[in-house]
Amino acid sequence: MTSSKTFENMKIVETRDGSETLYVPDIDEHYHSIHGAYTESMHVFIEKGLHAAMEKFDHIRLLEVGFGTGLNIWLSGNELIPKNFKFHAYAIDIHPIKKDIFYQLNYPEFGNSEVERAFYDTIMRAEWNREVRIASDFYLEKVSADWTSHPLDRQFNLVYYDAFSPKTQPEMWSKELFEKVAAHMMPGAILVTYTSKGEVRRNMEAAGLRVEKIPGPPGKREMLRAIKEDE
Ligand SMILES: C[S@@+](CC[C@H](N)C(=O)[O-])C[C@H]1O[C@@H](n2cnc3c(N)ncnc32)[C@H](O)[C@@H]1O
Repeated sequence: MTSSKTFENMKIVETRDGSETLYVPDIDEHYHSIHGAYTESMHVFIEKGLHAAMEKFDHIRLLEVGFGTGLNIWLSGNELIPKNFKFHAYAIDIHPIKKDIFYQLNYPEFGNSEVERAFYDTIMRAEWNREVRIASDFYLEKVSADWTSHPLDRQFNLVYYDAFSPKTQPEMWSKELFEKVAAHMMPGAILVTYTSKGEVRRNMEAAGLRVEKIPGPPGKREMLRAIKEDE
């Protein structure tokens, strides 16, 4: 059980595509794939999740489990804002990363413009536990809470499930937690996650989601995408 532990000694490490991630020695876990943090986020969450949701919804209502470095939310905003989508993001993390760490991450270098580069800082500096307007149609609520016990009070049409691995945090991948998510997914909503573990897939299916295995990012043959079928 890692949920109640505050991680110390986090280290910034470079991944294969040049983007950085955090390594947590206490649990021997990285925040992203060592085969490329930026590449993994783009593949799993943006291409397989956000793009699929953008085909169905013009207002993206995102739940992220594991806000971490903010990389997924930043990349999502970069996609949605220029295309005039409405974007509400609700992101939960039990251990918000400290300023002295996120200031050093090199993600802004992956931005396509000065606006995108500055935008990372705006997201990371946004106050926790209240909704903050990040851009004209982009609202972000970062919630400092334990996902295993945090009640949800709204519906979502996209879910980024980005906890540490099922091996390290089995309690984050249970049938009960997928039931909680499924109950707060609108008809047609999409959930994506980087793992393809059989037990995770079975727990999602037991929660009533339709689950598909789809090609994963470099270093991972497959990942999971789950859909809340129309009732
Ligand atoms: C794989 S990292 C997330 C990476 C993140 N999405 C990003 O783009 O950097 C897992 C995250 O889950 C958070 N976490 C771990 N246990 C949690 C819990 N019980 N409730 C909420 N967040 C938790 C960790 O603090 C960590 O930030």
